[in-house]
Amino acid sequence: MSDRLEITFSPLNAEPETATVVFAGDGLVLGAKARELETKSASAISKAAAAADFKGKYKSSIEILAPAKIGIERLIVSGIGKIGALTEQQAVDLGGAIVGAIQARKSSAASIIVDVDGTEALSADEIAALIAQGAMLRHYNFKKYLTKKSSEDAADKDGLKKLVIQVPHPDKAKAAFQPLKAVANGVNLARELVNEPANILGPVELAEKTKSLEKLGVSVEILDVKDMEKLGMGSLLCVGQGSVRPSRLAVMVWNGAKGAKKQKPICLVGKGVVFDTGGISIKPAAGMEDMKGDMGGAAAVIGTMHALAERKANVNVVGLVGCVENMPSGNAVRPGDIVKSMSGQTIEVINTDAEGRLVLADVLWYAQEQFKPKLVIDLATLTGAIMVALGKEYAGLFSNEDKLADELLSASRSTGEKLWRMPLDKAFDKMMDSKNADMKNAGGRWAGSATAAAFVQRFVQKDTPWSHIDLAGTAMDGNRNDINQSWGSGWGVRLLNAFIAEHHEKGEK
Ligand code: BES
Ligand code: MN
Ligand code: ZN
Repeated sequence: MSDRLEITFSPLNAEPETATVVFAGDGLVLGAKARELETKSASAISKAAAAADFKGKYKSSIEILAPAKIGIERLIVSGIGKIGALTEQQAVDLGGAIVGAIQARKSSAASIIVDVDGTEALSADEIAALIAQGAMLRHYNFKKYLTKKSSEDAADKDGLKKLVIQVPHPDKAKAAFQPLKAVANGVNLARELVNEPANILGPVELAEKTKSLEKLGVSVEILDVKDMEKLGMGSLLCVGQGSVRPSRLAVMVWNGAKGAKKQKPICLVGKGVVFDTGGISIKPAAGMEDMKGDMGGAAAVIGTMHALAERKANVNVVGLVGCVENMPSGNAVRPGDIVKSMSGQTIEVINTDAEGRLVLADVLWYAQEQFKPKLVIDLATLTGAIMVALGKEYAGLFSNEDKLADELLSASRSTGEKLWRMPLDKAFDKMMDSKNADMKNAGGRWAGSATAAAFVQRFVQKDTPWSHIDLAGTAMDGNRNDINQSWGSGWGVRLLNAFIAEHHEKGEK
C-alpha cells in the first residue's frame, strides 16, 4: 500500500502536534480541552470565529496561524454541527475531510483533539475511532509508480505521515478502532487491486493476492485451468482462452461463526476480469484503459474477506473470485461459438464482450454445489447500461428475495454506498433465449443491465436467496468524496461488511 499513515491515540493532556484540530459545535460550543486552549490563547478561537463568521456548522472550518501562548503553529477549528447529534457516518466523513484539510496545508504530523460526544450512543472515544477510519480511507492514494520526487504529484514525500488523536480514554478509542481499521484495510486493499494495471495484475496474480488472507486465518484454495476443465466450467474458461495468461478460480473460506451448530455460509462471488478488451467483439480504443478495473467485483469480495477476517467476524463466509483475461487472439472464443457451463446448460456466445456473465455463471454454480450457502451475493462490473440507468453514484441491485434485498438496502443506507433496486422479470429472461443453445449471452439493445441479470439468474438454483450487484459505475472512477480520492474506489466492502454485521452476525435478526 502507498504511503502509510501512522494513527495513534493519546490522552487529552498530551502535548499536541504543531498542527492541531479541535472541534466546535453549533453556536461555537467547545469541549473541555478546546476551552483550555481558548483561555490560554486569550480567546484566539472566538476572535477568529467572529472574524470569519464561523459558527461551528458541520464540516465548516477555520484555521488560526500561530495563536499566542499555546505552542501550536496551526490550529484548525472544525465544525461538528449540533452538539450531541453527530452520527457514525458523519464522524467517518469528518475524519476524511479533516485529513483533506491537513494535507492541503502540507503538515506531516497533526493532532486531533476529540473532547466532545456525539449522539447518545456515541462517546468521544468512539467518535475518535470513526474519525481515524475516515482518515485512513481519505489518506489512501495510488502513487507508487510515480518516480519524479520533485513533481507536485510525485510519491508524496512530504505528505501527512502521523496522526495523533487525543481522547478521554485512549484504550477505549483503540479498542473501538480495531474493527473499523480492519474494514478500512479491506477497502484500501480493494482499491489497490482495482488501481493496479493489468500487466502487473494478471489472472494468476489476482488469484495469488487472496493468499495474503491466510495470515488472518482464511483458508484459500486456487483452482487452475485443469481443475476447472474437470468441473466442466466451459463458460468461464471460454472467456480466458484467448489470453496467454491462464484463468484461475480463488476460493476464500472464513469460518468465524462461534457456537456448536455449524452455520451455513454466505457466499460472495466476484467478477475478476483483470482486463476486458471485449475479445473478438473488441471494444473501441477510447477509454479502454479503464477496463483494468473490470475486476472491481472480485476486489470488493477480497476486500470484504480481509475486513471480516481481520475483525474476526462471528460468521461463516466464502468468497469466490473468477479470475480471467478477455483477449482477442487466434485461440479466442468467437461470436456464434456454443459452450457448455458447469450447470449443464449450453450458451451461444453472441458477443464476446458480454464475458462477465459467462464467468459468473460457473462461479455461482460452483459456489452453490460446493457450499450449499444460505444466500449468495455476486458483485460484477457487468454492464455499461447500469451507468446509463444510475450514473456513478448508485450501483444496481437485483434480487430474487425481498428480505435479502431489504437487508442490503439498509446496509447501503448506513454506509452511504448507494444501491438502487432494479427489476428481474420473465420478459427479460425470455430475451436471453437462443435458437441454437439453451441461451445466448447478449440480449440486445434494451434493458442491458436487466437482461444481464436475467442471464445470471439462470445459474441460481431454486431456493437459493440471491442478489446481484452491478457496480460498473461505482467500482472505478466514481464520484470522489471526503473518504475516497482514489480511482479504484473499493466500493462494496463497507456495504457488505455492514450487511453482515447488521444482519448475519451473532444470531439471526
Ligand atoms: N466490463 C464491461 C462493462 C463495463 C463497461 C464496466 C464500462 C465498466 C465500465 C462488460 O463486460 C461489457 O462489456 N458489457 C457489455 C455487454 C454487452 C456486450 C451486452 C456492455 O455493457 O456494453
Ligand atoms: Mn465486456
Ligand atoms: Zn467486462
